[in-house]
Amino acid sequence: MRCDRTPAWQALQAHATAFKSFDLRQAFAADAGRAVQFSQSAPQVFADLSKNHTDRTTEALLLALAEQTGLTAHRDAMFRGEHINHTEDRAVMHWLLRQPAGSLQGALAAPLAQVHETLDAMLHYAEQVRADSAITDVVNIGIGGSDLGPQMAVLALQDFVAPGKRFHFVSNVDGHELAAVLKNLKANSTLFLIASKTFTTIETMTNARSALAWFKAQGGVDVARHFAALTTNVAAAAEIGIRTTFGFWDWVGGRYSMWSAIGLPVAMAIGAQGFGDLLAGAHAMDQHFEHAPLAQNLPVRLGLLDVWYRNFLNYTSRSIAPYHSALRRVPAYLQQLEMESNGKRVDRNGQALPYGTSPVLWGEPGTNGQHAYFQMLHQGTDVVPLEFIAVKKPTHSLADHHELLLANVIAQAQALMLGKEDAGGHKHFTGNRPSTFLLLDELTPASLGALIALQEHRVFVSGAIWGINSFDQWGVELGKVLAKDIHARIVSGDTSGLDASTAALLARVR
Ligand code: F6P
Repeated sequence: MRCDRTPAWQALQAHATAFKSFDLRQAFAADAGRAVQFSQSAPQVFADLSKNHTDRTTEALLLALAEQTGLTAHRDAMFRGEHINHTEDRAVMHWLLRQPAGSLQGALAAPLAQVHETLDAMLHYAEQVRADSAITDVVNIGIGGSDLGPQMAVLALQDFVAPGKRFHFVSNVDGHELAAVLKNLKANSTLFLIASKTFTTIETMTNARSALAWFKAQGGVDVARHFAALTTNVAAAAEIGIRTTFGFWDWVGGRYSMWSAIGLPVAMAIGAQGFGDLLAGAHAMDQHFEHAPLAQNLPVRLGLLDVWYRNFLNYTSRSIAPYHSALRRVPAYLQQLEMESNGKRVDRNGQALPYGTSPVLWGEPGTNGQHAYFQMLHQGTDVVPLEFIAVKKPTHSLADHHELLLANVIAQAQALMLGKEDAGGHKHFTGNRPSTFLLLDELTPASLGALIALQEHRVFVSGAIWGINSFDQWGVELGKVLAKDIHARIVSGDTSGLDASTAALLARVR
C-alpha cells in the first residue's frame, strides 16, 4: 500500500502534531532508558540515535509503517534477485558482489560464481600492478558512480595504501582537470583506468580519448599495458583500442558499483587482502540488514528516521559531518547515493507523489564545518539534522589532536541539543537540534565497507517506504540530450528556435 494511505501514516501525522512541543532535554529527563533505547550496534558501526526528534511512540509507528508498506517483502525481493528496478527491468544485486564464494544455491549460484571469477582476475591484476615498480601513477577516468566511490575509498584508506604509487581521479569534462593531472605524468610510468558502466558517458569518453592521444603523443605504444577498461560494455572499450578489460553486470547500479570492477583503483591502492576486507565488512552489514529484527536493524532505523524527518517534521536536508579528514569525500559520495536514488517525484506506477522524497545532503569534515556553516546549524531558522561520523582510534601518534577532535564532535552534538540561555538574543542558543552519531572503532577497509553498505541500505529503506524506484536515474538524461544540441550550436553559432536567455548566453560564450 502507498505509504500515505496506510493507517500508520495517519497515526504518524497525528503524532507529529502532538509532537510539536517535543524537547530533547525533557525527553532525556523523562526517560532514563532513552540513550540505551536509541542506541544500536551493527557490524563495525555503533549508532547513537538518541539525540534525534523521536520517542518510543514514533519508533513504534514507523515500524508499523514499515510493516504496512511491505518493507521486508521488498528487501527480500532484492536479496532474491528479482527485477525490482522495474523501469530498467533489472535486478538490484550490488550486495552479491560482497557475498562469499559458493555461499548461495539456486538461481543466484551462477551469477555469484561469475562475480568471483571476475573478482579473482581483477585482484590478480591489481597485485601485478602493485608489484610493478615501473608504474608510478594510476589515473582513474570516470564520473558519478565510476568516480565518487573509488575516490572516496582510496582517500579514506590512505593509511593502508602501499607507498610507490600515486592515484589520480579525473571526472570532469572540463579539460583543466585532465590537463593538470597529465602535466606531471610520463606515459611509460602511467596506467589509465577508464571506468564507465556504459562506456558511452560523454565526459569519460572525451577524457579517455584525450588520454589516449596524450599517451601516443608522448611516444607511448603499449596501450594494452597502460590502459584498462572497467565496464559492462567490453565491446565499446575494444572499439577505442582498449583490450585489458574487467567487466560487471547491468544489475550493479553506477552509484552502487565500488564493490565491482569499478573498485579496481581501490584494490590497487590497498591490495587484494584489503579489498577482501572491504567486501567482508559490507557483507556483514548486508547480513544485518537482511536478518536483524526491524526494531534492532540499523539501516531500517535510520531509513525510517529519514522518512519521519522528511514527511512529518518537514526537515528537508541532512548535513553529514565526518570527523576524520580521510572521510572528506564521504559527503559527496552520499549525495549521489541518496539524491540520485531517491530524488524521484513519482511512485513505482509513474503516479505523481503528494509527499516529499529525498532530502538534500551536504557537508564537510569536522572541525572545518564548525568554523564555516555550523553557525546556521546552531542559530539559524531552519532545523537541519546532522549526522556525525567519528572514529575512536587514530592511526597517527598525535594523541592530543585526536582527543581534541573527539572532544569537538561530542561537544557539537551536545551543544546542538542543550543550547544556551542568554537574555541578550544574539548569544541565545535554542538547543533541541537533532543529530545522529555514528562511531567506528577504527577506520579500516572492513569498517568503511560496513559504513557504506549501511548507507546504501538506509537509502533502500526510505525509497521502499516512499514506494519509488531507487535504482533508476532518468532525471539525468534531459541535460545530456540538450548538451548535445547546444554543443552543435556552439560550433555553428545557430541560435534559431532557442529561448532568449539561452540564445544570449550562447552568443556570449562563443
Ligand atoms: O549520469 C548519471 C550516471 O548514469 C550515473 O548514474 C553514473 O554513476 C554516471 O552517470 C556514470 O555512468 P557510467 O559509469 O556509465 O559512465
